[in-house]
Amino acid sequence: MNIRPRINRWTKARRDLNFDLSIKSSLVQPHFVVSGEGIDETISSMPGINRQSVDKLLDTISKDMELGIKSHMLFPVLDLEDKDSYASKASNMDMPLQRAVKQLKSLYGGDIVLLTDVCLCTATDHGHCGIIHNDEIDNEMSVSELCNIALSHAKAGADYISASDMMDGRINAIREVLESEGYVSTGILAYSVKYASSFYGPFRDAACSAPSFGDRGSHQMDIRSGYSEAILEAVTDEGEGADIIMIKPAMTYLDVVRQVSDVVSRPVAVFNVSGEYSMVLSSSPDEDSRKQMVREVLHSFKRAGADVIVSYHTREAVSRDWLD
Ligand code: PBG
Ligand code: ZN
Repeated sequence: MNIRPRINRWTKARRDLNFDLSIKSSLVQPHFVVSGEGIDETISSMPGINRQSVDKLLDTISKDMELGIKSHMLFPVLDLEDKDSYASKASNMDMPLQRAVKQLKSLYGGDIVLLTDVCLCTATDHGHCGIIHNDEIDNEMSVSELCNIALSHAKAGADYISASDMMDGRINAIREVLESEGYVSTGILAYSVKYASSFYGPFRDAACSAPSFGDRGSHQMDIRSGYSEAILEAVTDEGEGADIIMIKPAMTYLDVVRQVSDVVSRPVAVFNVSGEYSMVLSSSPDEDSRKQMVREVLHSFKRAGADVIVSYHTREAVSRDWLD
C-alpha cells in the first residue's frame, strides 16, 4: 500500500500541522544535531541558529514546546571521522540524530511532530547527495542507502522521513521498506520540487555538507525549468506515496507553490531556506523591521498555498508573538 491518508491524521499534533489554517500551527523549527555533550555552537552565517549536542537540543526543544512550537525538523551534522564515501554512519542507531528522536518521542509521544532530514550529503566524505560510481551519482545505489537511513529514523520514532536527496523513485522505495518493516504510521515528506539553488549556502556551512567537487545540478531541479517539470515531480512523489509535498526554496518559487498546490491533494510544504533567512536578517536593522519582514514573508507562503512552513524564523516569530 503506497497511499495511506491516515498518516497525516495519526496524532492531533500532525493534524494541527497539516490542517490548521493559522501560520503558527503551520510552522516547523529546524535544528542541527551534533555529537558530544554540552555543545551549543553558533553558526556565523545563521545568527540565532545553533549546532547542538543531544542534551542541549532536548533543552531547546523543551522550551520550544512550552512556547507552543510542536513541529521540529532535525538535521544530522556528522564529524569528519564519521564520514565515508557510502554515508554508512547515517543509518546507525547510535548516532546523535537517532538518539535524539528516540528520547524526544519518549518525552513527548504524540504531542510532538518530528521530521528528520534523509540525505547522504551530511554523511559522505565528498559531500554529494548520492553514492558515486564510475564518476557519477548512482541513482539505485543511492536509493538503497536512503532506505537504510529512512528505516533507522522510523525505528527511532520519526513522524515524517523527509527525503531531500532528489533521486528518482526514492519515495516508492522508502514506502516499501516502511511497509515491509511494519511502520504503517510513519509519514514521508518529499522534497519534491527542490531547485539547485544558490540560497543554500549558510545551511551547507551549518551542516558541513558542501560538495567537495562539482555541484548538485544532476539531481536538483534546474532553476530555469517551468511549471510542468515541477508538477511532474510533485505528482510522481504523490503517486509513490508522499504524505507531504515540499517546494524549496520558498521565496523565489511562490508561483510554483501556487501551481503545485492547485494540482496535488496532499498538504504542501515550503522550505524558507537558509539564504532567505540570512537575507531577511541582514536587511532588517532592528526588531520591529524584522517583525514586519518576517510577517510579510510568512503571509506570502500562506497566500501561495502552503500548508506547512519550515522556517528558521519560527522561534523568534512565536516567542515574540509576531503572528496573529
Ligand atoms: C540536504 C539539504 C539541503 C538543505 C536541506 N536539506 C542542502 C542542499 O541540498 O545542499 C538546504 C536547507 C537550507 O538552505 O536551509 N540535501
Ligand atoms: Zn543532500
